[in-house]
Amino acid sequence: MVLYLLLVGSKVGHITRLWVGANIRNLFKENVATFHYINKDGDVEMAKGLDIGTMNIICAEKEGEDVVFMQQRNAFMELESSDLTKTMLDTSKVLYVEEDDGISLLGEDAFRFATIFEKEAKRPMKRGIICSDEKNAIPMMKLIVERVLGTPKSQAEVLYISSPADPIDLDINVLYHRKTMEALAKKMKYDTHVIDEGLAVIYSELADYNFTGLGISVGAGLTNVTLAYLATPLMSFSIGKGGDWIDEQVSKTTGLPKEHVCATKEAESKLGTDVEFGSVKGALTVYYDALITYIIKNLDRKLSEIAPPKVSFPVAIAGGSSIPKGFFDLFEKKLKETKLRIDIPTMIRAKDPLYSVARGCLIAARTQEAAAGKRTTTATATTTQKKAHGKTTGKKK
Ligand SMILES: Nc1ncnc2c1ncn2[C@@H]1O[C@H](COP(=O)(O)OP(=O)(O)OP(=O)(O)O)[C@@H](O)[C@H]1O
Ligand SMILES: [Mg+2]
Repeated sequence: MVLYLLLVGSKVGHITRLWVGANIRNLFKENVATFHYINKDGDVEMAKGLDIGTMNIICAEKEGEDVVFMQQRNAFMELESSDLTKTMLDTSKVLYVEEDDGISLLGEDAFRFATIFEKEAKRPMKRGIICSDEKNAIPMMKLIVERVLGTPKSQAEVLYISSPADPIDLDINVLYHRKTMEALAKKMKYDTHVIDEGLAVIYSELADYNFTGLGISVGAGLTNVTLAYLATPLMSFSIGKGGDWIDEQVSKTTGLPKEHVCATKEAESKLGTDVEFGSVKGALTVYYDALITYIIKNLDRKLSEIAPPKVSFPVAIAGGSSIPKGFFDLFEKKLKETKLRIDIPTMIRAKDPLYSVARGCLIAARTQEAAAGKRTTTATATTTQKKAHGKTTGKKK
């Protein structure tokens, strides 16, 4: 499988674009998919994948030979309105929306400015689903999704969006969130389909194994797990712990704000081996270990409830919380010690853990698009995308 990074973190406007130059054709095995990703002259790549996460909203689409990712933090911050503020925001090309009683900064900029203004950035989602106690959650997410996704390039362009599976350890279900996000995308005139986050990881990482295996996405609000056989889910569930849980626990033990802990965690991005007393690093070591132990304990428990076919199930690990150096090795070590009820021939670390779910959604969308014979020869892939970089000036709906 050929996959190579070309450019990372190129900032265009104020939406981060990442190009992963990939011969995606190779992600498919001949016996699984029958179409080619490479365009013939005039063909337009017309399918998108959207990962709607507690911390990040990421869109994946093809641009020529490349997969292009558009990413925004799923966050906003309310400010009091003043002309000075607006001028400043316009000059620095910040993503914001004007409201009757002030201004809301959106996405990445909400996070950046939260530190400057010493305010907390609000998060529309919590533990994988829309936050019920945040009244502006849905309108803010709508704006962020519209910016990241852009308008469809053709009538009923196929879109796959990720959804968490029901958590096994929290008293919440994902139905309302799933239906709301689906309705939002449908309103934008996409031919919208929903896919479990764990299955999206399998689409992205396990093409070499005929989409059979265990896909795990360790995100911010949740950890999502799907066991699939030939791309058909046998079991999907989520666990109510992820990166946010680590931030909360470390914040409680050290007395530092969660945002500070999160920034240190992401900057460090390495699992420690020693428990340094009283430090953020020391607490992070403790809680990463606790998180991995908890995920594997629940995985073991859930696998004991089903009788999967007697085949091998490779394991793919993705999600932003699996990025730190040492996370994958510790996960692998603990998984081996646990001796799960399935045969695990190999473990795969997603090449790009943060973008794996969006890429999996894109692959699912393209499979659907090919099956439905939806290929047209109009429009341009890039025009629509570039529009997505513009400042939001509309009123909140
Ligand atoms: N370099 C890094 N080192 C450590 N943690 C990181 C790093 N980058 C991101 N994270 C963490 O990854 C998490 C976000 O990952 P991801 O985008 O996969 O989650 P999400 O999809 O938004 O959430 P969820 O799937 O739970 O709804 C956050 O907790 C973030 O702090
Ligand atoms: Mg996620």
